[in-house]
Parts: sequence; C-alpha cells; structure tokens
Amino acid sequence: MFPHANTDRLNQDHTHAMVVLMAANMKRLAVLTSGGDAPGMNAAIRAVVHAGMARGFAIHGIDHGFTGLINGNFRALDVSDVDGIIQHAGTVLGTTRCEALRTESGCAAAIRTLKENEISTLIVVGGNGSQTGAWELARRGVSVIGIASTIDNDLFGTDISIGATTAIDVVLEAIGRLRATAGSMRRAFLLEVMGRHCGYIALMAGIVGGAEAIVAPEINWEPARIMQTLFAAHTRGKSHAIVVVAEGASHNAQALMNYFHDHADALQFELRATTLGHVQRGAAPGVFDRMLGIRLGVAAIEAAAEQHHGVLMGWRDGKPASTPLADVANHARPADGSLIDLAKVFAM
Ligand code: F6P
Repeated sequence: MFPHANTDRLNQDHTHAMVVLMAANMKRLAVLTSGGDAPGMNAAIRAVVHAGMARGFAIHGIDHGFTGLINGNFRALDVSDVDGIIQHAGTVLGTTRCEALRTESGCAAAIRTLKENEISTLIVVGGNGSQTGAWELARRGVSVIGIASTIDNDLFGTDISIGATTAIDVVLEAIGRLRATAGSMRRAFLLEVMGRHCGYIALMAGIVGGAEAIVAPEINWEPARIMQTLFAAHTRGKSHAIVVVAEGASHNAQALMNYFHDHADALQFELRATTLGHVQRGAAPGVFDRMLGIRLGVAAIEAAAEQHHGVLMGWRDGKPASTPLADVANHARPADGSLIDLAKVFAM
C-alpha cells in the first residue's frame, strides 16, 4: 500500500517546518579550548558535543581559543565532527594564548561575536590564564562555564586537571630512559620538567619515578642540599642519580648546572641536564585523562542545562564539582603538603 502522494508531500513539509522551528528554538552553546593544549581536551570537546546535543543544545566550536572568539571563528559541530578524536593529544579546535582578552576592547569584541552568533552559554576548556579570561567575560554578564584543563595542575577548585597525569607519564618514561644511560656511564642527570610556577609534575614524577631528589617551588632546597643527596647516593654505591627539577623552582636546571660546575669535586658524579619541554604535552591521553575529559564535559553540559553559570567544573573527592570563577581567577591551587612530605622522605 503506497501513501498518497499529496499527503506524503504535506508530511514532508510539516517535518521540515518542525526541524527549522526546533533549530530556531534550540539554545546555542559554544565551546573553545584555550592556553596550553593538554591531553584529554579532545575527550572534553567530544563529551560536550554528545551530551550537549542529547540535552537539546545546538553546539558550536570556536577555532583558536579566545582569539577565534574575538575574530568570530564559529562553526557548527555535530557528533560526526568529533568522531575518532578521543585518543588524540592536542585539541581539534586549536588554541592560543590571547593577550587581547586582557583588554577592554578585546572583551567587548568577544561579547559582540557571542551575541552575533546567538550563543547562550560559552564553555572554556583550559587552565589558569584561560579561566581568568572566562571570569573576565562572566563578570561582564556572559554565561560561562569553565572546564579544568592544564598539565600544570595549578588550578584552584580542582584536585586534578585534564592532562596532568598523561604529562607525568611522559616524565616517567623519560626518567626510565635517562636512568638506563646514567647507570651505564655512572652519571647524574638533572631532568627539568614543566609546570610554570607549580611543582606538581616534578613532585609526582619525582616521587613515583624514584628520583634521588626533587627541586620544586614548594621545596626550597638550596643547591648545597641537593649536592649532599647526590654525594650520599654515590657513597652508598649507586651507579646513577636522577634529580627532577621544576621549571618554576628558584634554581632551575641551568642554575643548578652552574652551581655544580663550580663544585664538581664534591659532587662525585659526572653531570648532564635534560630539559623535557613540550613533549610533555603531546602524548595520547591516558585512561584517567580521557575519563576526566568525559566526566567534566558532561558535567559542564548539566550545569548549562541548569543555568549554573560562572563556575569552573573541576574534580574534587572523586567527582565533578563546581567552583565560582571569581575564586578560581584570584587563587592558585594550594601546594599539596603530603606530596612535599613524601618527596622529603625519599631524598636521603
Ligand atoms: O601551562 C602549560 C605549560 O606547558 C607550562 O607548563 C609551560 O610553562 C608553558 O605552558 C609553556 O608555554 P608555551 O607552550 O606557550 O611555550
């Protein structure tokens, strides 16, 4: 039995009209990634798209972070745009460090493009500087929700940020490789790691990587103290020694090299330094960062649906938790005392 041609046409027109009407009524939500890329950002973008569409939002991606927002680089996203991205490092939306958002005219331009594109909520995936930018928009009336993402893990309001654990795994792999060459040639290595002003990566990687010493902003050990530790390691017969140095420590790898160069006899080991740099950001996200990206992405959509704006979505006590962006923008994550204690236990 074939449907009547005219009825069929009427039904099609009706369905088309409904789709157009629904699209017009759908709330439009935009997502951008900002600051240093972090493994797991793609998992968060994918979660925002899937969960957002399931909640009835029309999702738009903004290319190149806040710079793209100011320039109006919006594009509609659907699930096919985020197929296959979960396992990749970096961010498919691209990212920038945007100085312009620190200015009044930059903020005004960002607010203008959001209005032009009829965006009701903006989701900002990023770290400290990015969430400060998110707060600058929020306090000017934009509905913003942040998602905690930085390898540095220095954001206030979250126990852990997207990307940190994968970056630490990269450092662990490097420690293993350096130990192999150090042990073969009876050398000590300084391994400088990222983290900006925060020593979380250095502390975590140093502790679980079995480093002889850790130099971080949270542990203000003088070079002489590090030298004692290396000397003790040599005296008890170790064929190698690894010192993990945070880039933000008062004595970074270069400063320590200079000091040890002047005290070579007391050190005993021949010394080399390696700066790991951006390879820490480029690994495929591990299981924790993928799940964190998913959980925070979905939680951000739930917050948007409940109109719970002006917050950072982070991870506390094993679940998503929100913190006002006003607090995030004005605070650094407090140093973890238990990590500092552990670091001291193992530096003999
Ligand atoms: O914030 C992430 C981070 O990788 C820091 O650890 C590092 O200090 C900084 O970014 C490097 O910035 P850029 O990629 O702009 O050189």
